[in-house]
Formats: sequence, structure tokens, C-alpha cells
Amino acid sequence: MGEKHHVRFEPVGIEIEVDEGQTILRAAAEQGVALMHGCKEGQCASCKSFVLEGDDIELDSYSTFALPEFEKDEGHTLLCRAHAYEDLVIELLNYDEEMIQSGLPLRQGTVEVIGNDPVTHDMRHLVVKLIEPEEIKFFPGQYLDFQVPGHSATRSFSMANTPNREGIFEFVIRVYPGGLFSGHLADELKVGDRLRVEGPFGAFRLRESSPNNLLFLGGGAGLAPLLALLRSMAERSLDRPVTFYYGARGRRDLCFEEEIAKLQEQLPGLTFVPALSEPAEDDGWDGETGLITDVVERREAELRSVDAYVCGPPPMVEAAIALLTRLGRSEDHIFYDKFTTTGEPEGED
Ligand SMILES: Cc1cc2nc3c(=O)[nH]c(=O)nc-3n(C[C@H](O)[C@H](O)[C@H](O)COP(=O)(O)OP(=O)(O)OC[C@H]3O[C@@H](n4cnc5c(N)ncnc54)[C@H](O)[C@@H]3O)c2cc1C
Ligand code: FES
Repeated sequence: MGEKHHVRFEPVGIEIEVDEGQTILRAAAEQGVALMHGCKEGQCASCKSFVLEGDDIELDSYSTFALPEFEKDEGHTLLCRAHAYEDLVIELLNYDEEMIQSGLPLRQGTVEVIGNDPVTHDMRHLVVKLIEPEEIKFFPGQYLDFQVPGHSATRSFSMANTPNREGIFEFVIRVYPGGLFSGHLADELKVGDRLRVEGPFGAFRLRESSPNNLLFLGGGAGLAPLLALLRSMAERSLDRPVTFYYGARGRRDLCFEEEIAKLQEQLPGLTFVPALSEPAEDDGWDGETGLITDVVERREAELRSVDAYVCGPPPMVEAAIALLTRLGRSEDHIFYDKFTTTGEPEGED
């Protein structure tokens, strides 16, 4: 632990204390201030902010795609990588007044595996139960960090379920060949095994006070937090019109279709549009085909007044944000989680 400094966020006027040994994002989370973030690894740019006063800041390694050199020179920084060595004033470029003061306490804990089953040829449904502490609160759409067994590395996974008294957490996890966590999940992790977790993290939460229609757009394991939002809407009979576009490669990559059909009975305003980008001849598929963003473009003339929730692999999320803004939606109504991976950041600084 080092010296502590004060960091004030504008235009919200919130001040926190930051130890030199921790990042500004981490200190904020520990003090219940929910700043926008995604990867926490300097790769996704969700936490990019502008330094108004002070310049004694050190950054842990980050991707220059997330913070190009010229932006750093202009005064931008990544709060998930930034350590303050003097008092600072920081302008938040991307914040949500409804969320910022509603941060839930970060907790570390142990969970026990109660289910680990394939739902497609390369995605698994992991279900765990909290052993300690008694409770880790979260909002639907948020994620937990799992420590990779036998390593200091962590991996982030979004809850597919809603908060519940039983301390159950569900995840949909894509298996990458040789993946540090997902390889272990596929080959070794069994019922009864215990894992260390920390959370909740993430700002991917339903903005409930908004009257706008909803557009959900997901790909692959990006299904998980969108399913959490739908399940939460169904539990609370929150029947806002919602169109859920979901992209997969082939028929064998689709999952949770039966549950989504049941959710449609509870949420009559829900339209589900799955699309296959590489349907196989024997898929017998008569639904939408093509990249999910192309399907949205074909079906939606304009999207000026929706709230969009986008989740999945970074290229899909980036293509979706570009499309949605082209169709008239301003970025402050596009909420997203990029499932960035944790390997060596490209263009590391
Ligand atoms: C906020 C957030 C939420 C997330 N939620 C989920 C979730 O709910 N479900 C989920 O499955 N994942 C999720 N992820 C991604 C997850 O955290 C891991 O990065 C991912 O599972 C890979 O970890 P691994 O240890 O299995 O593979 P690693 O050991 O990190 O990678 C192994 C190998 O696979 C390759 N690889 C890894 N990812 C990809 C990719 N996307 N495309 C191509 N090659 C790849 C790597 O380059 C490497 O060669 C989330 C990420 C973030 C930031
Ligand atoms: S770059 Fe900071 S949260 Fe992703």
C-alpha cells in the first residue's frame, strides 16, 4: 500500500480516496462508485476519461487501440489502469447518473460447482453455489471474476441468471481450445469443485426508468447477460417491447431456444430473431441468415428511439455500435459489454 490521494470526478462532483497501489477504477468500486467499465485490462476503452487537473498518473500496461498515444498526450486516461500519485480531477466522458451512486460492494468469495454441462458443441452452462460469504449481491447483467485454478490470472464471466436467495450463479461460457479457464472448465472442472470469485463488476444493467423500446443484440456467449435481463424482466412482468437479435454460426450453435420461447409467453412484447451466419445444408434453417448486424440493418429502417443492449465478441460489438449510430441512435443509449480476452494485449504500451 502506498500514499493516498483524492480523486474528484466531474461533472458528477463525487470524490474518492485512492491508494497509489490500486487503480482509480478499483478504488471507486470499493467505495461503491459504479464507473463505466468493461474489461478492467486496458483493452476495451469503456473507462476512458479525461484528466482535468493533475498529471502525476502511472498506467499499468494497456492496449494502444484502447488509448492511442495522441489521446494520452491530449490528457485522456484509462481508469482501470491508472494509479494516482497526486490529487486529481477527472472528467467522466461516459457515465450514467442512474447507476453511478448505486454501486454494490465488491466481495471476494468461494463458490462450489453444482452443474457444468455442454449447451452447444463449444459452450457450457456452468452453475455454481456460493459457499462464502453469505451473499454476493449483483444486478442482472453484471459479471464475476473467476480465479483460474492454480494461476493468479482471472477471467470474467457474466451471470445469465437473476439475483436469488439461494446464492446460485449461472454462466454460459465459450470453450476455446487451450483456453486457460475454459480449457479447465471443459476438461477438468467437476461438480463439487470450488473456485474463488470476486464481484460484482460491470455497468451492463437495464436502465429501468427509460420509456424507450429495447433492442438486444448478442452473439455467442454474449447470450448470458441478455438472458439475465430477459429473465429479470419476466420475473417482474416488465413487458417493454424488446427485439432480441442473436447471431450464431450454425444451427448447432443455438441454445436456450426453449427457454426464450417460454419467456415470450411471459413477455408478449418480446420478439426473438436468431440468425445464422454459416448455416449448414442439413440445418433445415428457414430463419434469418447473415451477420447479425446485417440482419438488423435489413429489418430496421431507423433506431432513433430505442435503448440498445449489445453483448458478445469485440468485433461484433464494434460493428453493432457503428450500425446503431448510423441508424440514428446516439451512443448514450447504446449499452454494451465487449467480451475482450485477457491474452497479451495487442499493441501493448
Ligand atoms: C466483461 C466481460 C464479460 C465476459 N463474459 C463472458 C461470458 O459470459 N462468457 C464467456 O464465454 N466469456 C466471457 N468473457 C470472456 C472471458 O472472460 C475470457 O476472456 C474467455 O473465456 C477466454 O478465456 P480463457 O482463459 O478460456 O482463454 P485464454 O487462455 O484467455 O485464451 C486461450 C486462447 O484462445 C484464444 N482466444 C480467446 N478468446 C478468443 C476469442 N474471443 N476469439 C478467438 N480466439 C480467442 C486466445 O487468443 C488464446 O490463444 C467476458 C469478458 C469480459 C471482459
Ligand atoms: S479499458 Fe478500462 S475497462 Fe476496458
